[in-house]
Amino acid sequence: MLFLGLAFLFVLTTQRRFRRARRQMEQGPSAQRTEVFTATAPPQQSPAPTVAMGESGAATLSAGRFTPLEELGRGGMGVVWRARDGVLGRQVAIKQLLPPSGGSPTAQETMRARMLREARAAAQLAHRNAVTVHDVLLDQGSVLIVMELVKAVSLDKKVESEGPLPPGRVAAMGLEMLDVLAEAHELGIIHRDIKPANVLVQKDGSIKLADFGIARFEGDPTLTEAGAVIGTPSYMAPEQIRGLESSPATDLWGLGVTLFYAVEGRPAFGRPSPTAAMAAVLTEPPLTPQRAGSPLGPLLMSLLAKDPADRPAATQLRSELSQLTRI
Ligand SMILES: Nc1ncnc2c1ncn2[C@@H]1O[C@H](COP(=O)(O)OP(=O)(O)O)[C@@H](O)[C@H]1O
Ligand SMILES: [Mg+2]
Repeated sequence: MLFLGLAFLFVLTTQRRFRRARRQMEQGPSAQRTEVFTATAPPQQSPAPTVAMGESGAATLSAGRFTPLEELGRGGMGVVWRARDGVLGRQVAIKQLLPPSGGSPTAQETMRARMLREARAAAQLAHRNAVTVHDVLLDQGSVLIVMELVKAVSLDKKVESEGPLPPGRVAAMGLEMLDVLAEAHELGIIHRDIKPANVLVQKDGSIKLADFGIARFEGDPTLTEAGAVIGTPSYMAPEQIRGLESSPATDLWGLGVTLFYAVEGRPAFGRPSPTAAMAAVLTEPPLTPQRAGSPLGPLLMSLLAKDPADRPAATQLRSELSQLTRI
């Protein structure tokens, strides 16, 4: 019964998101229609005021500032563009989030207020291993997140093209991820969507985590039409699939599934369908690591404990990963 319910919710959500994405593609990313969320807007008890075209008076907030140049990728909730910032004369990455359609004006306002609050929280994070968020804009109800353009390949694509990575290299990546997560958690920011596609690997091998603070409103049941689970099923933690509160330990699960994929070249809970993947996350053990060896293999297994309370503490994890990078 649980699996049937999950299947139904997943299909319903996927269909709606697909239809929304297609509508949005047909409309295109019109920078000309951009309204701006100012960073100086008052706190969010009341809906965030938006600045209409030309009203702000500030050249840096005028409409038409960003010109999309190329689609960099497409994920669960939106499209990422390489774009030119005409004012500062530099290139940026812009994530266009597709808003829940058909909601009441009040629901839309609540969504915007929530997004601004979350974007502000995420913008507090300044760390070499996190993608910097420059700004959040509104474009006819869709939200544009303006970010630093990272010259990198995502970890999922890297593993697809180069195959699994050596354990020492994966441990080094894990340490960088842990470093930025520790700082985020201290600020009360939980990533919630750590997966290979959100790990950007730069030329020198260092990584940047993308999408801090975004998964929260992507998966907020009050903001989605179907109120269903949104995410990448084989990378979601059991507590997320169950609709329970996320905690820093949820990100440790994400770290576990991501490092597992990097070193093994296949997901720990890969299944032919999203529903089967969710069922596996909830009730089945992860695949046995074949390439990770010891102690990375057992370490990954400990991160993939179904109960968040059973996952290791970040400090213990850090010392074990550092030992691995010295091998
Ligand atoms: N700041 C960025 N700079 C460069 N590329 C990015 C940036 N953010 C995202 N991308 C690219 O865009 C792709 C799509 O991102 P996204 O919409 O978040 O979907 P997902 O994370 O599910 O793949 C990513 O896989 C990544 O390759
Ligand atoms: Mg992403």
